[in-house]
Amino acid sequence: MDGLLKFITCGSVDDGKSTLIGHMLYDAKLLFADQEQSLQLDSKAGSAGGEMDYSLLLDGLMAEREQGITIDVAYRYFTTNRRSFIVADTPGHEEYTRNMAVGASFADLAVILVDATKGVLIQTKRHTRICALMGIRDFVFVVNKMDLIHYGQQQFESIEKDIRKFVAEFPCHTLKIIPVSATVGDSINSRSDVMAWYHGETLLEYLEQVETIEDKSDEKKFCMPVQRTCRPHLDFRGFQGQIESGNISKGDKITVLPSGESAHVERIYIADQESNRAVAGQPVTLRLDREIDISRGCVLTGELPCKVSSLCQVKLLWMDDDSLYAGKNFILKLGTRMVSSTVMKISYKIDINSGERVPAEQIFKNEIAVCEINTAERIVMDKFENNKVLGGFILIDRITNMTSACGTVEKVLNRSENVTWQELDITKEIRAGQKKQNPLTLWFTGLSGSGKSTLVNELEKRLVSAGYHTMVLDGDNIRLGLNKNLGFSRQDRIENIRRISEVAKLMNDAGLIVLTSFISPFEADRQNARGIIGEEFVEVYVSTPIDICEKRDVKGLYKKARKGEIPEFTGISSPYEVPEHPDISVDTSVKTVEENADEIMEKIQDLLNGCK
Ligand code: ADX
Repeated sequence: MDGLLKFITCGSVDDGKSTLIGHMLYDAKLLFADQEQSLQLDSKAGSAGGEMDYSLLLDGLMAEREQGITIDVAYRYFTTNRRSFIVADTPGHEEYTRNMAVGASFADLAVILVDATKGVLIQTKRHTRICALMGIRDFVFVVNKMDLIHYGQQQFESIEKDIRKFVAEFPCHTLKIIPVSATVGDSINSRSDVMAWYHGETLLEYLEQVETIEDKSDEKKFCMPVQRTCRPHLDFRGFQGQIESGNISKGDKITVLPSGESAHVERIYIADQESNRAVAGQPVTLRLDREIDISRGCVLTGELPCKVSSLCQVKLLWMDDDSLYAGKNFILKLGTRMVSSTVMKISYKIDINSGERVPAEQIFKNEIAVCEINTAERIVMDKFENNKVLGGFILIDRITNMTSACGTVEKVLNRSENVTWQELDITKEIRAGQKKQNPLTLWFTGLSGSGKSTLVNELEKRLVSAGYHTMVLDGDNIRLGLNKNLGFSRQDRIENIRRISEVAKLMNDAGLIVLTSFISPFEADRQNARGIIGEEFVEVYVSTPIDICEKRDVKGLYKKARKGEIPEFTGISSPYEVPEHPDISVDTSVKTVEENADEIMEKIQDLLNGCK
C-alpha cells in the first residue's frame, strides 16, 4: 500500500509515545544531520543519563522539554521508500483530552501505547473511546516496555487478550497488536531476536502496508460541501470546496442540498488546471451547466445520501470546564455551516471504563454523552459513519467563543419531518398595524427584589394609558401556571426562559408589546431569548445591588436562603451574570419608580414609533 498515512499516537504519561516515534525516525534514517547531532548533545544533558533520548525529537515545544511531557499536538512528517506519514503526537494527561480529540479528528489510524508492566489502564480505554468517537476505525496497540518484563510471551498474550476484549465494543476495521521496546528498538523497525516468538510485522512494516478505511473513501458517493462561490468575472461562476468522498468527472450529474436542485458538471479545475476528473481529498472548483442558487454551506452530492433536518442524535465529548445541561444553546459548526443550536436532551453518558450507559442530568469535562441537538435552521447532515464531514461537528460557546464539545452524528432524526411552517395570510405586521403599534418585548432582568415587577407594572399602566396594547409575563405568575413543572436548577431555568421567550415571540406576532419580569440570571439564556424573539427584543437591566435587594426582602426569601432553606437562590447560592451590553440599565436604589419609568419611556420612544 502506498499513499499518505495520517496517524495519531496516544498513551498514558510515560508510556513512551514520543520515544517510540523518535526511535522509528532515527532507525529509519529519517533525520537531518543537524537534528541527529543536536539529539546526541541534548541527550547528554538530559534525563536519559547520556543514553540516546529519542523522545527529545518529538517533544518539540520548550515547555514540553522542560517538563518532560508532551502538551500540544506535535505533528511530524516523514517518508520511507514505501509510504509517507504524518504523525500527531498528543499528550497523555487527562487534562489534555481536548488536544487528543484534535489529533484524533485529523488521523485515519491510532497507535495506542500500552505499558507492558501495567497492562490496559482506564486512560487506554479513554483514548480508544475518543479515537473511535472521532471516527478512527483502524487501531494498532503497541505493548511497550517489553524489555522490562523480560520479553515474556505469556504476559504479552494476557495483555493482548484484555485488549481484544475491550476493543470488541468498538466498530473496528483493522486491529493489530505488537510487542515492542521503544527504548531498545525491538519490533519497531527491525525484528527482534529476543522476541523470536513474535512472528508478526514490526511497527513500521505494518504502518507501511496497512490499508485503512479512509483509503477507500473515494469508492464512496461523491460529496463536496461548498466553501466558497467564486466569480472572477461575469462569465464565470464556480463552486469551490474539498471533495470529502467519492470522485467526480465532467458531465456527471450532481444534486445540490438543501434545495434538491440538480445540474451537470461542465468543468473541473484543480488549482488553475482544468481536469476531466477529481477525487476525494482534492480541493476543486466546479462549474455547472446551469445557474442554481448555491452558497457556502450548501452540499454538492452525487446521489442523495445526506439528509436535511433540524434534529439529530449525537455522541459528543464534553471539553468545557462548566458542565453541560439540557437546554443549553450553542453555535454548531457542521461541514461549512455555523448555526444556532440547542442541546435538547441528554440521553445518557458513557462510562469510560465499562462502556455502560449511565443516566445523567449533567455532563462534566472529558465525559462522553449521547444527546439530542436541535438546530435553529434545517441543515444538510448525515450519519458520521456515512460522511465524516457532514456527520462531524463542534459546539462553540456563544459567550466565550470556545469549543465546548466535539462529536459525531449518530442518527438524523426527523420527528418534525411531517410538520411544516404554515404561512398565514394575516401577518404580524397586519395584526400590529390594526393596533397601530410596533410589537416589542421589553425583557427585564435583575435580582429577586430588584424592582422588576414594580417597574413593569408602572410601565404597563403608562403604555395602556397612552393607547398601546400590552401583556405582562411575570416570573412568579408564570411559575404558578405554564411553568409549574419547573424548579430552579440550571436545566429548569434554561427551559423557563426558553418557554417564556417562545410565548413572548407569539405575543409579538399577535402585535402586542410584551413586558417580561424574570431574574434570567444567565447571559447564555438571555442571548437565547434574544435569538428566539429577534429584533423586537430590548434588554432592560435592573441593576439594584444585592445588599439593597436583601434589605428590602419583600417576600422574605433572602432570609430563608441565608438560612439554607432555599437551594440555588440567585445572588446567594446561585450566580447572577450581569448583562454585558444591556439596551437600558436602571437602578431602583438611586431613583424612584416614577423616575425610572420616565427614563425607560423616553428611551423606548423611538422604538414605539417604529424607528430602530
Ligand atoms: S429565573 O431565574 O428562572 O429567571 P424567575 O424570574 O422565573 O427565575 O423566578 C424568580 C422568582 O421565584 C423570584 O422572584 C422568587 O420569588 C422565586 N424563587 C423561588 N426560589 C428561587 C430561587 N432559588 N432563586 C431565585 N428565585 C426564586
